[in-house]
Amino acid sequence: MPITLSAMTPGFAAEVGDIDLAQPLSPADEQAIRAAFTEYGVLIFTAQNLTVQQHLDFAKIFGPLERSVASIMPGQALRVREEIADIANLTPDGKVWDKDNRLRQFQLGNRLWHTDSSFKQPTGYTSMLYCRSVAPVGGHTEFADLRAAYDGLDAATLDKIDGLIAEHSLLYSRERLGFTDFSEPERIAFAPLARPLVRTLADSGRRSLYLASHIGRIRGMDDSAAQTLLAQLIAHATERRFTYLHRWRVGDLVLWDNRCTMHRGTPFDDTRFARDMQRATTSDRPDVFAHELAAAGQVA
Ligand code: OGA
Ligand code: MN
Repeated sequence: MPITLSAMTPGFAAEVGDIDLAQPLSPADEQAIRAAFTEYGVLIFTAQNLTVQQHLDFAKIFGPLERSVASIMPGQALRVREEIADIANLTPDGKVWDKDNRLRQFQLGNRLWHTDSSFKQPTGYTSMLYCRSVAPVGGHTEFADLRAAYDGLDAATLDKIDGLIAEHSLLYSRERLGFTDFSEPERIAFAPLARPLVRTLADSGRRSLYLASHIGRIRGMDDSAAQTLLAQLIAHATERRFTYLHRWRVGDLVLWDNRCTMHRGTPFDDTRFARDMQRATTSDRPDVFAHELAAAGQVA
């Protein structure tokens, strides 16, 4: 039975039906999913029942699995394998964490608009977030289409952002929330890296903004001018017409394209209700920005 595609929003989010991701994919299904991925930024698979290994096996179709941020943080105890980003609000013994939990401080950054692993080398390509339990109120995830947002920019803005290079770091997004208590090894692990503000997608040929709250500076620009421009671009890109809100059900797996989308978690009472979400993320080509960086005369 071939997969079915139902668009949730035109050209951006689609639900993929009639597929069991616990089974190895047929070549036809894999090809259909790849084609859907090129067209849409967000693909939703419902009613899945996956082991961690099945989740990772599916993710590998989209490139090498990256290691989670927590596994890069020196001395951090992990609840899950290092290829899984633990998006749950649980301690290693399975209890809901308390307000001062250190990982919580990091994870609250997920409530800011961002794309995954723009601050890593290589950068994030796809993310696959799998829902194992939900909170009764809140805890949705919102997505923004950065290709459509790029297409919707006016000529003056296009001209202004042409060739700009931004610096991304996990530390910048966490500093926005007032969290500055980083160890020296963390500062080294998450040192800022240069990425173009506009990119071209290899498969579709479409142009996209490459935006995230992980951006702290734009090279060659005053910090105040850079922050104003970024705030303006993020406000534009997250207008209602460019977004999709996903309300999770247990068993949903949502796949998104980190090259051309942003997302953010919506609030929920995370010191009261368990919400168990696990993410696999794959890496893009290491030299994906070689052309843009060389054209701007910059190195990463
Ligand atoms: C993520 C993320 C937001 C959420 O998994 O990368 O940002 O709603 N999640 O949990
Ligand atoms: Mn994220």
